[in-house]
Amino acid sequence: MRYPIVAGNWKMNLGRVEEALAFVRHIRYRLNEIEGVERVLCPPFTVLAAVAQVLRPTRIGLGAQTMHWQDQGAYTGEISPAMLAGLCRYVILGHSERRTGRVAFPDQGPEASVESDAAVNRKVHAALAHDLSPIICVGENLAQNEGGQTHQFVGGQVRAALAGLTAKQAERCVIAYEPMWAIGTGKAATPVDANRVIGLTIRGAIADIFGEITAQAVRVQYGGSVNVENIAAFMAMPEVDGALVGGASLKPEFVELVRRVALVR
Ligand code: PGA
Repeated sequence: MRYPIVAGNWKMNLGRVEEALAFVRHIRYRLNEIEGVERVLCPPFTVLAAVAQVLRPTRIGLGAQTMHWQDQGAYTGEISPAMLAGLCRYVILGHSERRTGRVAFPDQGPEASVESDAAVNRKVHAALAHDLSPIICVGENLAQNEGGQTHQFVGGQVRAALAGLTAKQAERCVIAYEPMWAIGTGKAATPVDANRVIGLTIRGAIADIFGEITAQAVRVQYGGSVNVENIAAFMAMPEVDGALVGGASLKPEFVELVRRVALVR
């Protein structure tokens, strides 16, 4: 039995201490009361320490949105795993907004690759070495989806991200299947499609490397326009172990979304 996990990816929102704390104080008691589902908030770095403080008396987990793989050095603006260790338990790695040029090259279209598979793999190793659990994002773009390349592309991302890990380390990873065309668009994948990609492609790739027991143990979330209305349909799918939630994690309704995950499981 895989324990469901829902993570709220705040992205570049609620990054001022007073607004972040006001939001977390508003939701934390109700969020904390929900049984049967792991819940994680991933705020911007600027408020990570402040939110950690407010969450201390709760069982709500905390995660960062990215990190470098080196412990220290001349990497302007980067945050290292050593800095995060002790502050949070999770770190999102390889989000498509970082893998593609969306952050670094806003005028060049989304195809410029910035965070490579190799970089994501280094980050996964570094996170685990510091006792951080990575939430590894994978997912195809619209052209790949329409061109029938989802299986090959997403399978390749999973293999690359997990390369060189032991089975035990792989089991500590969470994978988030986030089709790029579904992120922030209000156009989620169908639960049946998400279930198929997660079961066949993602668990298939994990099974190829580590065997079937590991493939059945790794938790895989769906992400991309998840909201209060559609979450139950995703959770009704046997391969879906939770969700990575962007926009809908910025509102108090996130509590209701998490509650619905717990109700279905
Ligand atoms: P969304 O974002 O829920 O706003 O579509 C999901 C994500 O990017 O993790």
